[in-house]
Amino acid sequence: MNDNNCKGFHELGVLGKGILLNQDYKSWRYNRNFFSQAILSPKFSDEAINWTNKLFNELENYWDKLYINIKERNNTIIIKENNISTWFNLFTNDMIIALLTGERSFTMAGYFNEISDDEKAERPSALVDETVKFVHAIRKYILGLLMFQFVSPFLRHYFPYFKNKSDDYIQNIKFINQRMDTIIKRRRQEIENTPLDKPLPNDMLTSIITANTLRDVNYNKIDDKEAMRPVTDLEIRGIIFDGIIAGTDTTANLISFIVYYLAHHPDVKRKMFDEVDRIFQDDKTRPITESDVHKLKYCEAIVKEVARIFSVVNSFPRSLEKPDEIGGYQWPADTMLRINIDAIHHNEEYWEEANKFNPDRWMVEGFEPKKNSFIMFGGGLRICPGRKLAMIELICLTALIFRKYDIDLIDKKAPLKTESATVTACTELLVDIKLRN
Ligand code: HEM
Repeated sequence: MNDNNCKGFHELGVLGKGILLNQDYKSWRYNRNFFSQAILSPKFSDEAINWTNKLFNELENYWDKLYINIKERNNTIIIKENNISTWFNLFTNDMIIALLTGERSFTMAGYFNEISDDEKAERPSALVDETVKFVHAIRKYILGLLMFQFVSPFLRHYFPYFKNKSDDYIQNIKFINQRMDTIIKRRRQEIENTPLDKPLPNDMLTSIITANTLRDVNYNKIDDKEAMRPVTDLEIRGIIFDGIIAGTDTTANLISFIVYYLAHHPDVKRKMFDEVDRIFQDDKTRPITESDVHKLKYCEAIVKEVARIFSVVNSFPRSLEKPDEIGGYQWPADTMLRINIDAIHHNEEYWEEANKFNPDRWMVEGFEPKKNSFIMFGGGLRICPGRKLAMIELICLTALIFRKYDIDLIDKKAPLKTESATVTACTELLVDIKLRN
C-alpha cells in the first residue's frame, strides 16, 4: 500500500481494520479467524440455503407480478423492460445483510415499489426506506474508496471540488458506522437476554459476538490470551462490513454473466435444464436442499466455467516480502504486484482451448485444474473466505431460476455491458423472462 492509500484509508477510518484492506498481519489474522470460523461452519451453510429459498420466493413473487402475470392477464405480449442485473444486485444485498447481520433488508421490495404501476410490496414502508438508504450508503462508500485511494490528500483537503466530495464520503461512513453500531449493540442485548441453554440465531454477527465467551463451544480450549479474547464492537463492525462489501457485487455480477452465457449457448442450457428437471422431478416450488446442491454438478460446472472465462474479480494484489525474480525480471522487496486472474484463466499452457466456453471440461472424471491455474477466489493465505457461501448461492440461484423460468436476452447481438474497476460489474442485462412449461 502506498503513502496516499495509507493516508486515505486512515482518514476513512479503515486502516488496520476488518479483513479486506487490512495490512496489519496480527489484526487481519485475528479478524479473519472469526470470519472464517463463522462462515465455514455447517450451520452457516444451512442458513445460506434457507435464506436463498426465502429470498428467491420473494423475488419470484415480484417477477410473477411484473413480468409474467401482465402477459397472461392481457393475453398479449407486453414485455416490461427487465434489467435482471439490478434484481441480482438487490437479491445478493438482501441475502448478505440477512446472513451477516441477522437483520432483514428489503431492497428488492424497495425496487418493486419503485417500478410497479399499481401494487406495492407487503412490507412496512419505513423499514424498506431504511434498508434502501443503508444499501445506498454502502454503494457510495465503495465509490468513495477509489477517491481516497487515488486522489492525493492535498487535492482532497484544499481543492473545493474534491474537498466537498471527501467530506460527503466521510459523513456517509459516519452514517454507516452509526447504523452498524446500533445493530451490534441491539444484538448484544438480545444475546444477554437469552438464557444460556436457549439457542441463538445462526447469523455471522451472533457467532462473532459470542466467540470466545461462555457460549462458544471452544471457550477456554486454547491457551493463547490474545487469540481467546472476545471481539470488540469496533472489530466486529470492520469484519461484518467487509463481508458485506466483498460478498455482494461479486456474486451478483457472476449470476448475471451466467444468464448471459447460457443465453448464448443453448446446448449448455438444454443440458442444464435436463439436470435441474431430473433433480427436482418437475417440482417448481419445493425448497432447494443441501443434498440438491451436491447433486447439481453441471450447474456447478457452469458457475466455474463462467467464472473462468469472464472473471468478476479480474486481479488481486500481493507485495514481495523479499527481492525475487518474476517474469525474468528482478524485483526489490515491497514491490506491489497484481496477479492477473484473467490472463491465467485464458492461458493456453494451463487450459485446453482456453477461450472456449465449455462447462463439460469440469465434468471429466478426475479433472482438476493445474495448480494455481483456477483462481476465481484468489489463493494462499488471503484466499476468499466467502468461497463456500458464494458457490452455494450461485448453484442454488442457477437451479431455482431455471427450474421455473427460461430467460432470453432482449438483444442477443448486443455485447455484454460492463464496467471494470476491482470488480467487473454488469451494468445492464435486459432480458425476457418466460415461464417454462
Ligand atoms: C463469486 C463470488 C466471489 C468471488 C469471485 C470472490 C473473489 C475474491 C478474490 C479474488 C479475493 C482476493 C483473494 C486473494 O487475495 O487471494 C477475495 C477476497 C475476499 N472475499 Fe471474496 N469472492 C466472492 C464472494 C465472496 C463472498 C460471498 C464473501 C463474503 C460473504 C467474500 C468475502 C471476501 C473477503 C472478506 C475477502 C478478503 C480476504 C482477505 O483479504 O483475507 N467473497 N474474494
